Amino acid sequence: MNLDIALVSGRANPELAKQISKELNIPLLKVDIAQFKDGEIQVYYNETIRGKHVFIIQPTFSPSENIIELLIMIDAAKRASAASIVSVNPYFGYARQDRKDRPRTSIGAKLMANLYTTAGIDRLITMDLHQDQIQGFFEIPVDHLYSSTVFIPYINGLNLEELCIVSPDTGGTKRASAYAKFLNCELAIGYKQREKANEVAKLQIIGDVKDKNVIIVDDIIDTGGTLCKAAAVAKEMGAKRVIAMCPHALLSANGLENIENSVIEKLVITDSIPLRKQSPKIEVLSVAPFIAQVIQSVMDKTSISSHYDLINS
Ligand code: R5P
Repeated sequence: MNLDIALVSGRANPELAKQISKELNIPLLKVDIAQFKDGEIQVYYNETIRGKHVFIIQPTFSPSENIIELLIMIDAAKRASAASIVSVNPYFGYARQDRKDRPRTSIGAKLMANLYTTAGIDRLITMDLHQDQIQGFFEIPVDHLYSSTVFIPYINGLNLEELCIVSPDTGGTKRASAYAKFLNCELAIGYKQREKANEVAKLQIIGDVKDKNVIIVDDIIDTGGTLCKAAAVAKEMGAKRVIAMCPHALLSANGLENIENSVIEKLVITDSIPLRKQSPKIEVLSVAPFIAQVIQSVMDKTSISSHYDLINS
């Protein structure tokens, strides 16, 4: 057991933190997270973290309290003389606001990067950022992991012939094409038009999905609108089976019901965000062993580049 590490969890995804702690064989450090009557968050580390490398596990999906809680945890660790602070944030919230795509709007992802760095993190471990270039919003090391590490062995295990990987929108082309290249199979791309956030007005698939076993890959499922529409269009175009894989399942509003009522045969997600309700259609693959390996590599100062073989293929 490495005595220099302090592993702590916020309240966003304690189950994932528990699994990571089990994998590393390092107990989670006791931390009191209290709330004033008005909702303000206060953090108190129950044990000393002076001189320790503190890894704070907290994905920042909604509500925004998860973000504030993380910031307060970082600040408390900094003021308690931690040697370094690593934010282990497998789902980086606000990543969809990665550029100014119209006037008078915010670049929320950059603002988040500024907040975490100002609070005091020395490194970020994250997974499947909405766009890779968000890494550049930080002036500290970012270990950007890919869920393909768990999804690819799963796909291989399905032994599907006539496989076609589909990106539901042009933004996901790089991700989908890396999968298709690695799996040596067909690729098709969706062209999605939105009139407002979370509403898909139109979706067309460019490519041949007829008689194919289709796997749609995306980074985030929010309301499920994108995945369900892409699946329906693929089916209309003659796809044999439609499976979807997506690491970050927010499943807001009627997301879960939308998936259940869709033509998607199976949705495979990760535990970056806790699933609020089980569904026979949804299978969860844990990224805890993978994140634990990366934390170990950070501590041991060993390379993690083999995890990037797929994306660089
Ligand atoms: C958007 O570009 C993302 O990659 C996802 O496709 C999107 O966030 C999914 O949202 P929804 O499930 O509400 O369609």
